[in-house]
Amino acid sequence: MSDVRIGIIGGGLMGRELAAVCGRWLHLVDHPVRPSIVAVADLDPAAREWFRQVPTLETLTDSWRDLVDDDSLDVLYIAVPHNLHEEIYTAAARAGRDFLAEKPFGIDLGASERIAAAIDEAGVFVRVSSEMPFFPGALRAYEYARSGALGELIEVRSRFLHSSDIDRSKPINWKRRVETCGDIGVMGDLGMHVAHVPLRLGYQPSAIYALLDDIVTERPISAGATETTRCETWDNALITMRGTSQDHPQRAFPMLWETKRIAPGNMNTWSFEAVGMDAGVRFSTRTPAYFERFRRDGSEQVWEQVQPGNVSAWPMVSGAIFEFGFADALLQMWASFLAERAGALGDRFATATVAEAVGGHRVFAAASRSSAEGGAVS
Ligand SMILES: NC(=O)c1ccc[n+]([C@@H]2O[C@H](COP(=O)([O-])OP(=O)(O)OC[C@H]3O[C@@H](n4cnc5c(N)ncnc54)[C@H](O)[C@@H]3O)[C@@H](O)[C@H]2O)c1
Repeated sequence: MSDVRIGIIGGGLMGRELAAVCGRWLHLVDHPVRPSIVAVADLDPAAREWFRQVPTLETLTDSWRDLVDDDSLDVLYIAVPHNLHEEIYTAAARAGRDFLAEKPFGIDLGASERIAAAIDEAGVFVRVSSEMPFFPGALRAYEYARSGALGELIEVRSRFLHSSDIDRSKPINWKRRVETCGDIGVMGDLGMHVAHVPLRLGYQPSAIYALLDDIVTERPISAGATETTRCETWDNALITMRGTSQDHPQRAFPMLWETKRIAPGNMNTWSFEAVGMDAGVRFSTRTPAYFERFRRDGSEQVWEQVQPGNVSAWPMVSGAIFEFGFADALLQMWASFLAERAGALGDRFATATVAEAVGGHRVFAAASRSSAEGGAVS
């Protein structure tokens, strides 16, 4: 087992999640590496202070350049607002650093392409964060769709729905401003999650038509304030398109990618559904203990529930009789990323690639154009 020294740039919500993931690495059985958080860079002193409780910590700094220039680090995790992705990701690549990039991988399509070019030139190992497909039921749904069992595809739906913005008194933050979140709004926040599995299955998007919705247009400038400011990002995005798959290239099936910050009744629900002429499959994190398969039994049509058990991509000490959750999905994503970097992933499910992140951005850019022009964009 080899040690991997990790530096975190951006010690906010997601930076802290990684520290927690490393703290429970013993959950993984026979993983080839042992990661530890040794350095954290964040502008905010309070965000930095939180990391003092991490026993392996050596460096706290307010400068991300300190970490990009630090040859003692093996891997960076870069989890900062979207307007900073291009500058920091390209600097990390040019310094020869391997890293896990946060989505959406640049504030827009142009930024994502420039980052991808820098990574290509430097030859560093980079993957992009997308943890939801690591739920055991999601993995099984993906495998079933990949097996060809569905036959000619009728329709595919990929969704990420939450309701964090249903509260109008929630104050403005960087994720609700175009300057820092991006013109693509909610698609930047949630889009990678809905793009990962369809693109991994090789479904090629075309003829994109989008309905983008800005529902809450003003938000308080801070918690409890009566003064408000413009909340300018898209809250909800409904993207329809045609998809083609290599198995049946003659058929262009309807495909729906849905990302919503205001979807009443949904806390943080990721789901995937693909239905074909021979069979169907669907999984939702709302019912994480099972995925569903469709089949015809004579004249009867059957959606059956299958409980895959707590059987993850990378084996865990927790038994198959237990149940899986969000923190487990993050642990699995990091296990996958670090195992792939070590050349030990085998045929297990892999973290989203740079090409998939750029492919997602192509759809989001087309969706923005479609919304502005009111027609489909190829
Ligand atoms: N994979 C997921 O499920 C998931 C979930 C939430 C967010 N994200 C992504 O993670 C990234 C960060 O989001 P978050 O929710 O952790 O945001 P956050 O606001 O909680 O944390 C961002 C941190 O970056 C720091 N920061 C800002 N500018 C900086 C700079 N110049 N140098 C160093 N640090 C700086 C901030 O002080 C803050 O602590 C985004 O790309 C976001 O889309 C991913």
